[in-house]
Amino acid sequence: MLSRSLLTGAALASLAAAAPAPASDVPGYTDADAPYATETPAPVTKLATSFGLDSQISATFTTPSTEPPRVSSDVTGHTSHGPYSGTPTTTGAVQAPTTLASTVSALPPNPTATYYNKDGTLTEPAPAPYVPAGGLGTNGTEPRYMVNSDFDFESILLGLYQEWIELDLFNNGLATFSEEDFLAAGLTAEHRELIRFMADQETGHATLLSRMLGEAAAPQCTYNYPFTTVREFIDFNAKLTRWGESGVWGFINHLDSREVGQMLSQSIATEARQEMSFRQMLGLHPQPVWFETGIPQSWAWTYLAPYISSCPEGTTRLAWQNFPALHVVNNPNPNRLSANDTKDFEVVGNRTADPSDSRIPSDESCVNLNVTGYNCGPAISRNRSEPLSFPGRQVRFTWDEPGQAVGPNNSYVTSSTAGDPKFVAWVSQLNLTYTPLEVTGQNKGFTYQPPDVVYQGEGAVNETVFVALTDSDLYLTPFNLSMINPHVKALGLYTAG
Ligand SMILES: *[C@@H]1O[C@H](CO)[C@@H](O)[C@H](O)[C@H]1NC(C)=O
Ligand SMILES: *[C@@H]1O[C@H](CO)[C@@H](O)[C@H](O)[C@H]1NC(C)=O
Ligand SMILES: *[C@@H]1O[C@H](CO)[C@@H](O)[C@H](O)[C@H]1NC(C)=O
Ligand SMILES: *[C@@H]1O[C@H](CO)[C@@H](O)[C@H](O)[C@H]1NC(C)=O
Ligand SMILES: *[C@@H]1O[C@H](CO)[C@@H](O)[C@H](O)[C@H]1NC(C)=O
Ligand SMILES: *[C@@H]1O[C@H](CO)[C@@H](O)[C@H](O)[C@H]1NC(C)=O
Ligand SMILES: *[C@@H]1O[C@H](CO)[C@@H](O)[C@H](O)[C@H]1NC(C)=O
Ligand SMILES: *[C@@H]1O[C@H](CO)[C@@H](O)[C@H](O)[C@H]1NC(C)=O
Ligand SMILES: *[C@@H]1O[C@H](CO)[C@@H](O)[C@H](O)[C@H]1NC(C)=O
Repeated sequence: MLSRSLLTGAALASLAAAAPAPASDVPGYTDADAPYATETPAPVTKLATSFGLDSQISATFTTPSTEPPRVSSDVTGHTSHGPYSGTPTTTGAVQAPTTLASTVSALPPNPTATYYNKDGTLTEPAPAPYVPAGGLGTNGTEPRYMVNSDFDFESILLGLYQEWIELDLFNNGLATFSEEDFLAAGLTAEHRELIRFMADQETGHATLLSRMLGEAAAPQCTYNYPFTTVREFIDFNAKLTRWGESGVWGFINHLDSREVGQMLSQSIATEARQEMSFRQMLGLHPQPVWFETGIPQSWAWTYLAPYISSCPEGTTRLAWQNFPALHVVNNPNPNRLSANDTKDFEVVGNRTADPSDSRIPSDESCVNLNVTGYNCGPAISRNRSEPLSFPGRQVRFTWDEPGQAVGPNNSYVTSSTAGDPKFVAWVSQLNLTYTPLEVTGQNKGFTYQPPDVVYQGEGAVNETVFVALTDSDLYLTPFNLSMINPHVKALGLYTAG
């Protein structure tokens, strides 16, 4: 019973430090031997009062041997924002001289993909000590950190368009809202500094991607944002970084250049942290999923394009598709203490990633509510006693017809090759699940949020979820998800939680 009393000791210690926390307990996890001494922490009686010069430690004077220039400074000088009202000089996605077929057809598994190691012993001669046979880029060839195909080029160029908007966007919120506005949303000067630093990260990312593309790399464009308050700014950032991250997970392992994939994963790990920070600033659970999902490039481009109003003359154009918008009529509003009470179209505009309206009556808002389970002010993590959404929730949609001008200079056009929509595709975590679409009128319908799990105990649909209307329930998995594209009628975002 030693371990039991140790556990109790630890629980008491935490009680003393932060009463009235419940006794630390993990049901079903028994005999937890604590390897550490379980002393009651000394009460905090004295705090430091003087700051400044202290011990002088061993050090030397050093400077970096090189400082590679960036493609952009932290702030980009004069900016202008708002919709584009001119006439584009060119329209449509960039196209190859020849297109070989209308869709990519399915093939059986690659005949060489047969490795299975039943007993875990090595099966091939090892190239060197401690070097098991296999892997790509492991045979000593010199790395080349450049895109290596049209697929690579278009994927990294899309990533670059995304990094550029993030650089402007994060600075834009800081520049347009006051210190008081941020404080009213519970965000202090230290939080603003984090947002400013995240903008700096984007100059690094834009530099990296530009270099891996070469001279045709796109410059920064002009943007048109949807938010009117700090909460909406943060909400939009959380969504934008969500599709930025997922857009990369969708293609990174398909890149021809493993070297580019290596560098890109090291930048997208940062983007993932940004998404999480913005969720924390919104008082949402930072990571209510076990896996972050991947989406096709054309999906990321569909979400991003409506917020780019124009790009400079000569900007390299993208080859990806823009799908028509899918509007979620009753997207849960994370600013509400009771998400069930969200009104129809309680969003600030009608672009698919527009944030939820934060200007709701204060007695319906969770932002300044100091009640555990209901507070949605900034925090490391929050519990939501009333969930944002739940399996079986009716979700209503409207959707646009293809043929609308979107993106920089209104020079791209939404399109779809899908037949009549029959299903709602939910892309979340490792999963693609379909629910039947009930059509209720012209470009109107509903479905119910699915109950499916990734693995036992983890609902697949959570966080910002990608939803599409499709004409088929084609079975697809994360590595062949882009084969859904010919079946997509419209594309939206759902706020689950
Ligand atoms: C080394 O590996 C690469 C693939 O990573 C391959 O293209 C190349 O042919 C290999 N070189 C040799 C000498 O085996
Ligand atoms: C887009 O608009 C900008 C600003 O008006 C202009 O400089 C640029 O040439 C336009 N590009 C295209 C492709 O129309
Ligand atoms: C939200 O609606 C669902 C379905 O009607 C209901 O089960 C749930 O209790 C509601 N939540 C609250 C907090 O009333
Ligand atoms: C919604 O979007 C369409 C284009 O998709 C636009 O014509 C319309 O004015 C927008 N409506 C509102 C209320 O913003
Ligand atoms: C929130 O409530 C707790 C206890 O109910 C109290 O100790 C704390 O000061 C309150 N915080 C604010 C910001 O009102
Ligand atoms: C937070 O949520 C978990 C899971 O729903 C629940 O077990 C726990 O009691 C909640 N804690 C608080 C402090 O609300
Ligand atoms: C989403 O995740 C949170 C945190 O784990 C959990 O409390 C909530 O029930 C989940 N929502 C759904 C719809 O599964
Ligand atoms: C979700 O993905 C996991 C991992 O691929 C799979 O085992 C599971 O069956 C999927 N669940 C559903 C409902 O598709
Ligand atoms: C996608 O991959 C899965 C295997 O993970 C396979 O069963 C399915 O048939 C593939 N879908 C298509 C359309 O090729």
